[in-house]
Amino acid sequence: MTYHITLLPGDGIGPEVIAAAETVLRALPLEFTFTRAEIGFSAYERLGTPLPEATLEAIRNSHAALFGAVTTPPNLPGYFSPVVRMRQALDLYANLRPNRSLPHPSSRPGIDLVIVRENTEGLYSGIERLEDDGNRAITERVITRRGSERILRKAFDLARQTGRTRVHVVHKANVLRQTCGLFRRVALEVAAEYPEIEMLEMLVDTCAMELIRAPEQLQVIVTTNLFGDILSDEACMLVGGLGVAASGNIGTDAAVFEPVHGSAPPLVGTGKANPTATFFAAAMMLEYLGETESAIRLRKAVEACIAAGQTTPDLGGALTTSEMTEAVKCRIQNDE
Ligand code: NAI
Ligand code: MG
Repeated sequence: MTYHITLLPGDGIGPEVIAAAETVLRALPLEFTFTRAEIGFSAYERLGTPLPEATLEAIRNSHAALFGAVTTPPNLPGYFSPVVRMRQALDLYANLRPNRSLPHPSSRPGIDLVIVRENTEGLYSGIERLEDDGNRAITERVITRRGSERILRKAFDLARQTGRTRVHVVHKANVLRQTCGLFRRVALEVAAEYPEIEMLEMLVDTCAMELIRAPEQLQVIVTTNLFGDILSDEACMLVGGLGVAASGNIGTDAAVFEPVHGSAPPLVGTGKANPTATFFAAAMMLEYLGETESAIRLRKAVEACIAAGQTTPDLGGALTTSEMTEAVKCRIQNDE
């Protein structure tokens, strides 16, 4: 089996971390073809759009895509977020954010939590307007049965597949009675189909507290778009932060994996860009492709480097991006 992978380097340090990920993927005993496609401000400057149709087509025609980062230019008329547009165009409805403890002082121990965030509706539906001469602003929060059902199913399936026993459904149905009320009702229905998994409800503000107080008790959190956006950034700070946080955007027939960080313009060309988040994104991609053994092997190699202090300066080490990449590659090759 040959996997066709679309690489979306993007802007800033995006091309550096994507090249690093390509190197470590090539060190695994798998067959890949890699195709690069354009996205972001560099694409806009060359082609007049930050998300060319050819890029969407390339992603649709591949088994999965790996995305670096893009730069958002301030106040450019007609410019749009290619990341948000890509998620909509490919209907990448599930945003998965794993948070697992790392052998590093910046990480708390005992955490193994996946946040499953709805990625297409909720408060990010894009329905906003100004009224009363600009003195009243309204955003509509759209929650649908279909949107809720598929994200809840994704969370319970993930729990089942990974041998987890609990799913926390996070909402604010005591105040948002209609929208969160619908999400909660659908959750109770879906949960009934997974008798071996315990469904627990948690209000979003309580969840924000519990993430700090006792994150070890949480296994899977499933929630709506905005809540998931906030909670997943909070959670990643418990286990090493931006340099190591990865995510997956998963739809029915396409999937895009990415580091959570942005394009970090000041780091371009300095060798200081930490490739770890993109390595973990690549490992998520391998899991999605069903290559669990290779996913574990890549993750283990990265964790061994972190434990040995073979890292970029943001994690306390003294290696450059390419030196850390070589160190991970060596560990993959020596772990037979
Ligand atoms: P950023 O994530 O690029 O940087 C935030 C801080 O983290 C900086 O101090 C940076 O040096 C550091 N950092 C980020 N990635 C790192 C890495 N791999 N290794 C070591 N240090 C790293 O966020 P910022 O500065 O707010 O935004 C820069 C640009 O990126 C903006 O144009 C923003 O719109 C864009 N952005 C893009 C995202 C994406 O493509 N998904 C996500 C977030 C921001
Ligand atoms: Mg965010």
